[in-house]
Amino acid sequence: MRKKVTVVGAGMVGGTTAHRLAEKEICDVVLTDIIEGLPQGKGLDLAESAPIEGYDSRVLGSNDYKDTANSDIVIITAGIARKPGMSRDELLKTNFGIVKETTEQVVKYSPNCILIVVSNPLDAMAQTAYRASGFSKNRVIGMAGVLDSARMRTFIAEALEVSVENVTAFVLGGHGDTMVPLARYSTVAGIPLPDLLPREKIDAIVKRTRDGGAEIVNLLKTGSAFYAPSAAIVEMVEAILKDKKKILPCAAYLEGEYGIKGLFVGVPVKLGARGIEKIIEIKLTPEEQAGLEKSAATVKELVEIIKV
Ligand code: LAC
Repeated sequence: MRKKVTVVGAGMVGGTTAHRLAEKEICDVVLTDIIEGLPQGKGLDLAESAPIEGYDSRVLGSNDYKDTANSDIVIITAGIARKPGMSRDELLKTNFGIVKETTEQVVKYSPNCILIVVSNPLDAMAQTAYRASGFSKNRVIGMAGVLDSARMRTFIAEALEVSVENVTAFVLGGHGDTMVPLARYSTVAGIPLPDLLPREKIDAIVKRTRDGGAEIVNLLKTGSAFYAPSAAIVEMVEAILKDKKKILPCAAYLEGEYGIKGLFVGVPVKLGARGIEKIIEIKLTPEEQAGLEKSAATVKELVEIIKV
């Protein structure tokens, strides 16, 4: 039997995620939303593309959480997205209510699932889902680092005119303006980035990575990014469903790692069938550690407002 993955929120991120998952044929997909007809319409449209694309994954759109029962993974994309000029943090209070209620419904029907949280502000929403679910920390994961590093990889590949496949990038910290892209752990065919690009070029790439979400919002004007976010989600889902033990940067609940306690922050983790199977701790320079702590402090400010 195929695994079952639910995507909550049938907007651009949710719809594109369902699309990518179905085409990979790694699971059946349930797409839900509170808007009547939206998930059903996208679900049916995806199901009708299956004969042409050649996948047998089933895609079901629904407004009813009952249809999500016994999902292996539930992806929470529900919430409002940014408009130009808005920071992710301005979404805090609205999305807190939405993510809390969504999580409560989801865990009622899928008590054994793994939760991947995508709604913004990301780290605070992951913490909301963690508290509302009562799940163990390995089963609640925030998606941001894979997206942020994909953006950094794109810019590095562009600057050096090399294949994106040759480029790895490493981004720590919260998904926000204080994220910490680490140049010395970013490589091109194994060669550390500082050996390949001058400092000012790296600084420009770091800045563009930090502002990567806003750059897209400013272009689209009516919403935020969805192609790269959905690709990032699917990489995480695949790592879990295939038990790949893949090291990916994700928001994880820290209990002392990197000197941070009781907070979701982006760090490298090992993703496998049990969700976060290990948090990878690397030695940071004092400057990098300070950057990470500053980033964690901004996440802490948000979780204190919503008291999670
Ligand atoms: C971004 C939003 C989705 O980074 O947070 O594109």
